[in-house]
Amino acid sequence: MLTLRPARFRGSSRSLQTAKESTDCAEMSSPGERTEVRVLARVKGVSLTIDGRKIGAAPGQTVLWAALDNGIYIPNLCAMRESSEPSASCRLCFVEVEGTDDPVIACFTPVEEGMVVNTGGEQALRLARTALELLLASHPVDCGQCPSSGSCELQKIAGHLNVKLSSKRFKRHLPELPVDSSSKLFIYDPNKCVLCGRCVWVCQEKPDRGKIGFAYRGFSRIVTTFGDEPIGRAACGDCSDCVAVCPVGALFFRNTT
Ligand code: SF4
Ligand code: SF4
Ligand code: FES
Repeated sequence: MLTLRPARFRGSSRSLQTAKESTDCAEMSSPGERTEVRVLARVKGVSLTIDGRKIGAAPGQTVLWAALDNGIYIPNLCAMRESSEPSASCRLCFVEVEGTDDPVIACFTPVEEGMVVNTGGEQALRLARTALELLLASHPVDCGQCPSSGSCELQKIAGHLNVKLSSKRFKRHLPELPVDSSSKLFIYDPNKCVLCGRCVWVCQEKPDRGKIGFAYRGFSRIVTTFGDEPIGRAACGDCSDCVAVCPVGALFFRNTT
């Protein structure tokens, strides 16, 4: 299964180093000195304001993770905390930054000292809503039958952006692909895939894995195995890291049905 790093080791390699240094110092010092170390660590971090709240973040951290770590929600589908290079493909995490003309992608924008971020600006919300409605135009919404209902990120994002899952703003192109039940552990329903790329990233990170990837272009783009083989024949062993990171009902464990 996927092992996520403890929160203090997440973020850039610089923040990882800073956390390690702080830990080492704390182990060698008295409680009073430890408090001082923690205060100093905070002072050395980046201070910014999101939605009127002053928060601290690790240097090199992106606005997305700084916000989420402080309980401020920004819609996101493709971001992976462990990935040093965000794919920035879903275009759902737009925010507005004071002094910048156009909204920026929060998962791609590093925090800066004194930065002022607004997650609820009209321009940013309009872009995020459009991205979501485009995505929904090719998504078969049948939450009542879907094993991910209740934990699905798409439901959460639609609720946050106040967009109906049944939105018909854009012409619908629903895929009609066969559901892959060849794995003994999980089921892959490509029709529900939002092409976030999380499963591909996590699979390709593993030594001797890389069993799945993107294939084809445009409306035909899908996540599949080499040679479009059923996923159960991809020699994944008992790894199901792809299932663990899927934010919707495209990959789900058999025992959740
Ligand atoms: S993936 Fe999410 S939005 Fe789509 S049908 Fe399942 S629960 Fe509903
Ligand atoms: S199968 Fe799931 S994790 Fe993989 S790209 Fe599709 S939605 Fe993302
Ligand atoms: S989370 Fe930022 S573009 Fe997907």
